[in-house]
Amino acid sequence: MRVVLGVAGGIAAYKACSVLRLLTEAGHEVTVVPTASALRFVGAPTWEALSGRSVASSVWEDVPQVPHVRLGQQADLVVVAPATADLLARAAHGLADDLLTSTLLTARCPVVLAPAMHTEMWLHAATAANVETLRARGVHVVEPASGRLTGADTGPGRLPEPQDIVAAALAAVGEGDQDRREPGDLEGRHVVVTAGGTREPLDPVRFLGNRSSGKQGYAIAAEAAARGARVSLVSANVSLGAPAGCDVVEVGSALELQEAVEGLVRDRSVDAVVMAAAVADFRPAAYAESKIKKTHGTGEPDAPVIELVRNPDVLATLVAGRGGSPRPYLVGFAAETGDATGDVLSLARAKLERKGCDLLVANEVGTDKTFGRDDTTVHLLHPGEAEADTVGPTTKALVARAIWDHVAPALGERPEAG
Ligand code: CTP
Repeated sequence: MRVVLGVAGGIAAYKACSVLRLLTEAGHEVTVVPTASALRFVGAPTWEALSGRSVASSVWEDVPQVPHVRLGQQADLVVVAPATADLLARAAHGLADDLLTSTLLTARCPVVLAPAMHTEMWLHAATAANVETLRARGVHVVEPASGRLTGADTGPGRLPEPQDIVAAALAAVGEGDQDRREPGDLEGRHVVVTAGGTREPLDPVRFLGNRSSGKQGYAIAAEAAARGARVSLVSANVSLGAPAGCDVVEVGSALELQEAVEGLVRDRSVDAVVMAAAVADFRPAAYAESKIKKTHGTGEPDAPVIELVRNPDVLATLVAGRGGSPRPYLVGFAAETGDATGDVLSLARAKLERKGCDLLVANEVGTDKTFGRDDTTVHLLHPGEAEADTVGPTTKALVARAIWDHVAPALGERPEAG
């Protein structure tokens, strides 16, 4: 496929190098069209080395080939990453003052724009109107990710991860994941997904934690966003890039996670909560304000004894809080190793009854299984149903898809719009 990769002048231009690599490694012919300001961030030799082709950036180069018309006309796909506020404005108004905007005007193939800018610029009415105009014309404007921007600020405006941009681009031309169901069965829904593992502080430098990487929860959040949901992702100590289109709420401990989830559920718009996070059942009874020392008092033994107290069970509290109402739909996870009292499935079945949620996703864990790995096997169990739906071994993305395939049809009537 002939792809034009447009790069506008923002600091996230360096991430377009990964987008380029992913596209060329997938066998596509990519011509990079950086704007003049993009070339101040990443120079032409980098684009040329990575694409294996000369870059085109000015309408005054290679004039006999009429590049300002030819590139757009011949492309099967145009992707712009990052698309700055200025680029979105110029594209929305049909300006053609450089090679990239001329290409956008002549392209008749799918066009995918991946915005990146400061939150204020993204939320400004002018940008919002430009995005609306572009979308109304059939341009795919990917939702920016939320998270750390250049400098200390955080919020929506981050360039989505390169693999998300490439997935959106390939989906726009109907390539890639061919058996992908039509997204949209979660449109109008608000879902909360917890991910990662809580850390229970012992002193200013230490905590009790677990091995959860957050990959499964992030995949669940990304899948929900791709299917049209508004996603609040409550993220506990995860070092992954935020999935595109999700609102990320960062938490540390189990108590913080509980406060965040209950705060979201309280506003009553939440249709489903997926508790994929590994929440600590216990926390240290006392928090030492200063670092615990090797010698921690005269006459005391060398090793301090740490007393633990129970954390609230967030899922059980959500079950109790909804009373008899079916909303929000509640999904629990069971990370089981199996033990003397039963195998993974029987322990999971008992947990489903105990917790009272609507779906339990059980997986086998151990130091070599699941945590941090990219593939996994899970069993999906519903209350009162004898058979479990076993999915895998497969990727966490396909597990995420299977979970929403179970949840989406069970959400009942869509709330009235407006
Ligand atoms: N969970 C929770 N609050 C806790 C502990 C767990 O909401 N304090 C949620 C997890 O997010 C998960 C489910 O409950 O969705 C099961 O967690 P797990 O720790 O496997 O089960 P427990 O009920 O803690 O049972 P046990 O530790 O005895 O296996």
